Amino acid sequence: MTSLQDKMFADLKDKQVLELAKTRAFQFLDDVPTSNLFPTKDEIASARSLFEPMPKDGMAAIDVIDLMHERAAGAAVKAVGGRYFGFVTGGVLPVALAARWLTDAWDQNAPLFITSPVSTIFEEIVEIWMRDLFNLPEETVAGFVSGSSLAIFSGLSAGRYRLLKNQGWDINKQGLMGAPTLRVVAGRDAHATAIKAVSLLGLGTDNIEWVDVDDKGCIRTDLIPMLDDKTILLLQAGNVNGGGFDDFQSICASARAAGAWTHVDGAFGLWAAAARDYKHLIAGMENASSWSCDAHKTLNTPYDCGVILCSDKDALNSALHAAGSYLVQGEERDGMLFTPELSRRARAIEVWAALKFLGRKGVDELVSDLCARTMQFQQELNDAGFEMLIEPTFNQLLFACDTDEETERVCANVQASGECWVANANWKGRRAIRISVCSWATTVDDVTRSVTAFVNARDGNA
Ligand SMILES: Cc1ncc(COP(=O)(O)O)c(C=O)c1O
Repeated sequence: MTSLQDKMFADLKDKQVLELAKTRAFQFLDDVPTSNLFPTKDEIASARSLFEPMPKDGMAAIDVIDLMHERAAGAAVKAVGGRYFGFVTGGVLPVALAARWLTDAWDQNAPLFITSPVSTIFEEIVEIWMRDLFNLPEETVAGFVSGSSLAIFSGLSAGRYRLLKNQGWDINKQGLMGAPTLRVVAGRDAHATAIKAVSLLGLGTDNIEWVDVDDKGCIRTDLIPMLDDKTILLLQAGNVNGGGFDDFQSICASARAAGAWTHVDGAFGLWAAAARDYKHLIAGMENASSWSCDAHKTLNTPYDCGVILCSDKDALNSALHAAGSYLVQGEERDGMLFTPELSRRARAIEVWAALKFLGRKGVDELVSDLCARTMQFQQELNDAGFEMLIEPTFNQLLFACDTDEETERVCANVQASGECWVANANWKGRRAIRISVCSWATTVDDVTRSVTAFVNARDGNA
């Protein structure tokens, strides 16, 4: 045995380094409520102090973990608490974090049944559960990717494969050069990652047929051009700013009848399907061909955890197919055929843990609570004299002060106060403050405290 092996076997045996990581993780989590939500300059400088020439000699494992905690933990954004409302940042359910830890100890590689039977089994269970929760067609399959960016990419890859195959063109073999022209139709407020997928797939953003949107960022149904069997239609369940859901009922069935491929980007909003009071928002989306969502957003699993759902298994598998003599594919499900990646963590396990912990009722409650806190924000911000730029539909809210300058100032002051964390956005020519309630940990008091912070920031008390 080498001396390096000696050290590592000793670490594994005495568990000190693993115990230390647990202790430090608990310390971090315990400190979150009283920490700066966004790191201070000093905390960022502390993490930067880790820059050094690549060390010649290594360091003891426990010292590595301690160094990481002492110098770098401060530079982590404390989004796991209840007062972080930036971007669309999910919190983390304790059970999902624990499942992630356990799975990390298993260190599974998930491309094939033969590399990880346990991952395949959990992928199959979660596929059935999500299909059921979202009321998607029986033939819907799921792939477990890093997030919505890749999930959208996968859905559009399947669409590109299917539409070209229907024209007698095999994109995998023949490529894009000389291929029949595909159309892409999207609302003007399609998410940046959907547009990126269009460019990655060689469809060209200049070729997108843009459709105007309404005041919540929803595609104007009356303006959608005639669809056909060469069209990929991009829809959204939850606009990242306006929060709106496209009118799936009016669009999806007729798009399907026209032979178009409809992809629904439901990064956070697809979860509306699992909540009794919100599922009307996604009525009709079952007629789309593919859907993408994040477990790391609304479901509050740890990052990185996205899901592509597709009702055309053959198209998804063919678009994402990879073969090699050493990639032994068998009768069982091989996860790599459902994702662009080969090596992957066994992400489905933490999704399973979250769903198993919550049950159908718990998912409903989780989603409904996020929406209830958003509505509370709306009410209290209104009462405090802020202007709502959109009436929230789900968990996103946009508001502003009288002038753009004041909106900027309030946002910056609130960020500096450490009371809560929000970011700016542009909305219909105005500067706005975005609130996304995406953590199970946000309480009624957190919302009230945050609104007080906005008032103080505006009125000069911060
Ligand atoms: C509507 C929408 N689509 C796609 C994405 C991209 O998701 P991810 O960051 O998981 O790739 C987001 C992220 O906020 C989103 O809100």
